[in-house]
Amino acid sequence: MDSNVRPDTMQRITTKELAEAFIAEQIAEIKAQVGDKKVLLALSGGVDSSVVAALLIKAIGSQLTCVHVNHGLLRKGEPEQVIRVFREELGANLIYVDAVDRFLDKLAGVSDPETKRKIIGKEFIDVFAEEAGKLDGISFLAQGTIYPDILESQDGIKAHHNVGGLPPELNFDLVEPVKLLYKDEVRVVGHTLGLPDSMVERQPFPGPGLGVRCVGAITRDRLEAVRESDAILREEFAAAGLQGKVWQYFTVVPDFKSTGIKDGKRTFDWPVIIRAVNTRDAITATVEELPWDLMKKLVSRITAEVKGVNRVLIDITPKPCATIEYE
Ligand code: XMP
Repeated sequence: MDSNVRPDTMQRITTKELAEAFIAEQIAEIKAQVGDKKVLLALSGGVDSSVVAALLIKAIGSQLTCVHVNHGLLRKGEPEQVIRVFREELGANLIYVDAVDRFLDKLAGVSDPETKRKIIGKEFIDVFAEEAGKLDGISFLAQGTIYPDILESQDGIKAHHNVGGLPPELNFDLVEPVKLLYKDEVRVVGHTLGLPDSMVERQPFPGPGLGVRCVGAITRDRLEAVRESDAILREEFAAAGLQGKVWQYFTVVPDFKSTGIKDGKRTFDWPVIIRAVNTRDAITATVEELPWDLMKKLVSRITAEVKGVNRVLIDITPKPCATIEYE
């Protein structure tokens, strides 16, 4: 039987009890596969790699080493949360790599979106391979592959979405405990493993991160404007009860300035664009109709709190004809 095909008899994991049974079964399988050998995992902090990390910690504890690469394009508070949850609460062997300067220096002056993606993807692999090379006796690589990844790679749909995918020349055997699960099942397993809601219910976040929302050539100041405005947006969506209800929402800072006025003086600053969409499969998307009060609050907070910003715009274009991300 092809181990990459979900058997028809496999029950959809919708309850804590079913998740507990799955976890027990996977722990036994991981132990049998790995024995006393060592496993390495690239832990991005996304739902899939976080659930795989938590499962492996339960199964093999200190035989697992997690590597979290901060490429400087993560959302506000993300690296801190990964360190807190995995190193401090779950006691994982976690290597934190601060690669911010390395990525941002390579990206300086690069405005073409696909070139930006390629640089981020290649640099990620290089950093990860360097870290792997420093460790002795690693036999396995764990990955948060899920069933839609298998289905979509067969169809050739997701070729450009694989930042963080690791190259075969790393030459490890793979441990992929959630590869037959759908996203909703991974979330149920994550909750049952005790991971925080903010990690398990996270909205989709692209591999190149905030890099594709800092339109054109990334500069550190504009990237900070993306990061700070995104944090405000997430806070206000949560306060308005929209977290978990809207599929994906984020801010974008384009590479142009416009005139404004602050404290009686002329300003020349960037706009922040807000995008909030709903979709089932990300192939088409509709725009969420935001309450007026929420929009007013977002405008006043973002223009008051985010440095270098004097205007807030709301994008109400569906996909098609616009894509969800700007690059
Ligand atoms: P688009 O912009 O193509 O986005 O309408 C559809 C979904 O895919 C995500 N996305 C990416 N995910 N690497 C990823 O891992 C990427 O390069 C990438 N580009 C877009 C996007 O956030 C949305 O959920």
